[in-house]
Amino acid sequence: MKNRRVVLAAHVTGLPKESDFAIDTVDQPPPSEGEVLVRNHFVSVDPGMRGRLSGETSYAPPVPLGGVVGSATVGRVIASRNAAFAEGDWVAGAFGWQELGLTNGRGIRQIPEGPIPPSAQIGVLGIPGLTAYFGLLDIGRPQPGETVLVSTAAGAVGSATGQIAKIKGARAVGIAGGPAKCRWLTDELGFDAAIDRLAEPDIAAAVARECPNGVDVFFDNVGNSLVDPIMPLMRLHGRIVVSGQTADYNLGANERVGLKNTRAFITHRLKMQGLVVFDYVADFPTAWAELTGWIVDGRLRYREDVVEGLEALPAAFVGLFWGENFGRKLARLTH
Ligand SMILES: NC(=O)c1ccc[n+]([C@@H]2O[C@H](COP(=O)([O-])OP(=O)(O)OC[C@H]3O[C@@H](n4cnc5c(N)ncnc54)[C@H](OP(=O)(O)O)[C@@H]3O)[C@@H](O)[C@H]2O)c1
Repeated sequence: MKNRRVVLAAHVTGLPKESDFAIDTVDQPPPSEGEVLVRNHFVSVDPGMRGRLSGETSYAPPVPLGGVVGSATVGRVIASRNAAFAEGDWVAGAFGWQELGLTNGRGIRQIPEGPIPPSAQIGVLGIPGLTAYFGLLDIGRPQPGETVLVSTAAGAVGSATGQIAKIKGARAVGIAGGPAKCRWLTDELGFDAAIDRLAEPDIAAAVARECPNGVDVFFDNVGNSLVDPIMPLMRLHGRIVVSGQTADYNLGANERVGLKNTRAFITHRLKMQGLVVFDYVADFPTAWAELTGWIVDGRLRYREDVVEGLEALPAAFVGLFWGENFGRKLARLTH
């Protein structure tokens, strides 16, 4: 059996390019005793993967040259010599950008039967939804009536964050790129306001306009260039959740904007905290149950932006940093 994969062809510097990636084919041995072979139906495309592609160590080890690009995956067991998994089972895992995945059973979880399609297990019920859930509820802690500002609000993490803020009785204001994304946020997801970052010459003025009483929780996915102008708009005891830094991932330390408005930490008694969602792994089942309930009730909606085939993955990844994705970016590898 053969396994096609997208591998790292060159360490990424600056904005990623399609030529940083290559496709290869390797032999796939059948599962040995205790092992499970999975065919991946969907793989995710994540901005956070950028940190592992430059050859430097962050909290996750770097992808080596020739290594498979990491991602969440969802697929079906095609051969099993592990009693816990049967052929045909749907499983979520993290096999990366390749057609097949082999495991001794660790790192995959069976997907419960139900009304929610398997692809959602690596989107709104996967790492993005869990990041929104724990980042907002454990760090942001919005109270009813407070204002929650969310950046990359039409993306996988951001769209869930704003809706959870609404569920908790807060006012949700999103920042996104372009009128179609902004309309989706207000007209379909129930955000109270949306700011088109591409149409606003002064983002702080736009946030001040849409958050006239200030911002209680700022859930940021962009980075310093956005956090700095928002700091003076935070309310007393405001919380800044550092979820992601999509704009900063492609910049060297000297190219990133520095934070100048830190006096607001004192004057407004602000807190700023980051998260690694995997710190909450023991609580994932609680989050899955609650998120699933909200999806079934129609209170938590999601959008998937799906490209077809392994070949489409490099361009899909590059496009994340140009705002081309509208919702959770996925590639479908098989029907
Ligand atoms: N802390 C954790 O444990 C954890 C876990 C998972 C993900 N994350 C982070 O969460 C963030 C969102 O991830 P996601 O999967 O939901 O991605 P996403 O928001 O669906 O996609 C990326 C979006 O970022 C925006 N963007 C790209 N380049 C930008 C730039 N230069 N300036 C401003 N905005 C830019 C674009 O949206 P617009 O054009 O609409 O603005 C783009 O669509 C990422 O930073 C990721 O690393 C953190």
